[in-house]
Amino acid sequence: MNTEINEPPISTAVATKSFLTTPIYYASGSPHLGHAYTTFLASCYKRYRQLRGDEVLLATGSDEHGQKIERTAKRNEVATQRFVDKISHEFRQLWSDLDIQVDLFERTTESAHIQSVLNFWYRLTASGDIYPGEYSGLYCVECEQYFTKGKTCLIHKKPLEQFSETCWFFRLSRYQDKLIDHIESHPEFILPVQRRNEVLSFLKGEALRDLSVSRSSTKWGIPVPDDPELVLYVWIDALVAYVSALESATSEFESWWENAVHFIGKDILIFHAVYWPALLLSARLPLPRSLIVNGWLTIEGEKISKSNPKTIISPLDLTDKYSPDGLKYYFLRTVGLGSDVDYNSSHLHQTLNTDLANNLGNLVSRVVSLISKNHGGCLSRPKSGVNFNETLLVTVNEATKETEDAFSNFNFARGAEAFINCASAINGYLQQQQPWKITELDLQARILWVCCLAIRDVSILATPFVPELAQRIRLALGVNGTPRWDELGSEVECFEVQRGVVVFSRLD
Ligand code: MSP
Repeated sequence: MNTEINEPPISTAVATKSFLTTPIYYASGSPHLGHAYTTFLASCYKRYRQLRGDEVLLATGSDEHGQKIERTAKRNEVATQRFVDKISHEFRQLWSDLDIQVDLFERTTESAHIQSVLNFWYRLTASGDIYPGEYSGLYCVECEQYFTKGKTCLIHKKPLEQFSETCWFFRLSRYQDKLIDHIESHPEFILPVQRRNEVLSFLKGEALRDLSVSRSSTKWGIPVPDDPELVLYVWIDALVAYVSALESATSEFESWWENAVHFIGKDILIFHAVYWPALLLSARLPLPRSLIVNGWLTIEGEKISKSNPKTIISPLDLTDKYSPDGLKYYFLRTVGLGSDVDYNSSHLHQTLNTDLANNLGNLVSRVVSLISKNHGGCLSRPKSGVNFNETLLVTVNEATKETEDAFSNFNFARGAEAFINCASAINGYLQQQQPWKITELDLQARILWVCCLAIRDVSILATPFVPELAQRIRLALGVNGTPRWDELGSEVECFEVQRGVVVFSRLD
C-alpha cells in the first residue's frame, strides 16, 4: 500500500479556532465504509488540533434534497421526509458508534439551513451573478451534475439522461482568473498536490461555462425565491450547509471560517475547488483555508458506493469486530492521503494484531507487570533525575517533531507510523536493557521509569489516531487528565500502574 506523499510543507501557525467539515452525505442510502473513511480523517485532525489547544468544531450532516433522493424514497415507497429522517439518523448514530465527536450535524431540510441558503442566494443576486436562461444537456442524476460529453457517467456507470429546461444561471465564468490566482498563491488550499494540479489544469484548460443553479425536474428542494416552480440546484443547497452549520453555532463566523478545512473525496473536488470558492467570492465571504482530498476505498478495484451493492461493507459490522480504534488506525495508517486503496480484511486483521496488540499492547503489559511485581505497582521519580539525552527519549522527541510535520501536511499515515515506531523503539530498549534480569532494584526502576515516560508520550502521540486505546494506556500507567501536547517530554512525580488493563485484545 502506498503511504508516500511528497507535499510542500505548510506553515504550522497555531490557530486558536479550527472549523473542520466532512461532506454532508447523501441521505439516499445507509452509510458505508467510504463515508466512514473521510470522517476518520476529519476526526483524527480534530483530536490533533484539540491536543494542540485549539477550540475545534467538527461539522458533518446529511444532504437531503434533490431528484436522486426523491426517486429513491419513491422506490422504497416511503414519504420522502420520512425516508431522509431515517437515513440521517443512521449517519448520526454511526458517528456516535465510531466514537467520533461531531459538534454540528447539519440537515438540509431544516428551516434554519433553508433560511441560510436563501440569504446566500440573495447575496449572489446582489452581486449581479444570477440571471435567467435556457439549459439543454446531459445529466447524471446520481452526481446531480450536467455533462457536456459522453453517454455514461464514469463514476456511477449509468446512462446520462437528456435534460432541457428554463433555469437560473450563476456567472461562474466571471471567477475563472480569480480562482486560478487564489489556488496558485495558496499552496495549502488544495492538498494533496496532485489534486491541486488537476484543478489548475481544469481551470486553465477551457473557459468556464456558467452554472445552471435551478432545477424544474423535482419539487424536492428549496424553491427559488420569486420563481417557486423551480428549486435550487442541490449542490448550492448542500455547499451552503458549511456556512449554515457554523452560523448555527457561533456569532463569530469569520474567526472560525478563516481556519475552515473541508475534508472531501476526489469525486466532489470540482464542486469544492471551483464552484464553492466562486460562490463564496460572489457572496463576498472569505474562502476556506484548505480542501483535503482523499482517494477512494475500493473492493476488487471498484469504488465503494451505494449504487454498487457488491461493494457495500457496513462500518458497524466492522466496528463490532475490530473496535472503532482498530478501524480508525488501520485506515489512517495504511491509506496514503489521495491514494485509491483496495480494502483487504486479512491485511486489516494482521495489521491490528502486529501493531496494536503485539507491539503496543504487549509493551504496556510487560512494563506494568514488572512494576507491579517488583516495585509494588508504584514507581517514583528517580532521585538523581533522568537524563533526557537518553537515546530512547531522544527518539520519542524526534517522533513528536515527525508527528507535527505529518499533521501540517495532513499525512495521516506518517503520523500513525511515528507513534508505532516509537512503541517499537521502546520494545527494542527493553530487549537491550533486559530489566527483568537486573537484580539491583534501583537500576531496574530507572530503566522502567524511562520506559514509562516514553510510553506516556506515545499515549499523547497516539491520541488523534486511537483515542480510546490511548486513554487505556494512560489508565494502565496511572497518568491522570486529558492528554495535551505540552505534556510531551514533561516530568512526572510517579507512575502508579494498574494491572489487567487490556490495551488492545489480540484478534483470533
Ligand atoms: N452530498 C454530497 C456532498 C455534499 S458536500 C457539500 C455527496 N455525498 S456522498 O454521500 O456521495 O458522499 C461523498 C463523499 O463520501 C466523498 O466525497 C468521500 O468523502 C466519501 N466517500 C464516498 N465513497 C467513498 C469511497 N469509496 N472511498 C473514499 N471516500 C468515499 O457527494
